[in-house]
Amino acid sequence: MEVIVCNNYQEVSMKAANYVIKEIILNPETTLGLATGSTPIGLYQNLIDAYRNNLVSFEDVHTFNLDEYIGLPKDHPQSYYSFMYHNLFKHININLNNVNMPENESNNLDYLAKEYNNLLCNNTIDLQILGIGSNGHIGFNEPGTPLSNETFIVELDEQTRLDNSRFFMSIDEVPTHAITMGIKNIMRSKKIILIATGDSKKEALYKAVNGEINSSHPASILQLHPNCVVICDQEAGTLLEKKTL
Ligand code: PGA
Repeated sequence: MEVIVCNNYQEVSMKAANYVIKEIILNPETTLGLATGSTPIGLYQNLIDAYRNNLVSFEDVHTFNLDEYIGLPKDHPQSYYSFMYHNLFKHININLNNVNMPENESNNLDYLAKEYNNLLCNNTIDLQILGIGSNGHIGFNEPGTPLSNETFIVELDEQTRLDNSRFFMSIDEVPTHAITMGIKNIMRSKKIILIATGDSKKEALYKAVNGEINSSHPASILQLHPNCVVICDQEAGTLLEKKTL
């Protein structure tokens, strides 16, 4: 696991975007794994800028998103489909047929999870972008999720609902369930970039990088990934042990 500590959010966003841009330049048909949340917004802004400056084309890029809420229609402002559309897809030349997001509306949610999992098993993610929850989740793999899980329907942790309530009018509006790639899907990616910024992530990041590997802190599994880069700002990185930097 390589750890890069940057001065601030802008630098984290630019460094992470440069990894993505490099990946696409080397392989224009690359498959990206994408994340939502506040952290990657700056990274996506840098990708949009790179596209506008003709540095990169998304014409042949394929994408898979990590997760989606259950119970919010696609066009709900807080659905992850809306997030991706407004923060990235509508600004670049990606073919929306190449975009994959977990479907979330059916009487048989387990079937939807299976279908998304089949898609993931038939494709290889070249570069997966991850954020980290303050409780150590990656995607929506909450503490206690078996590390061997593939795509599944998860009941969201109270901490996650509380953290995400800032995007809703109240915590009661935050969905209780989501569909998420499992740890196993994430670990199959050829390369992973985890980005973390701000004081509220310092403990989660410390445990992910320096802690024991166990399912109570799902991000800790990334220590076993052969090609994982952590890019954080100084605040999120304050507790990291010197030897890892
Ligand atoms: P955040 O979410 O970027 O909004 O902090 C990260 C996550 O929950 O994975």
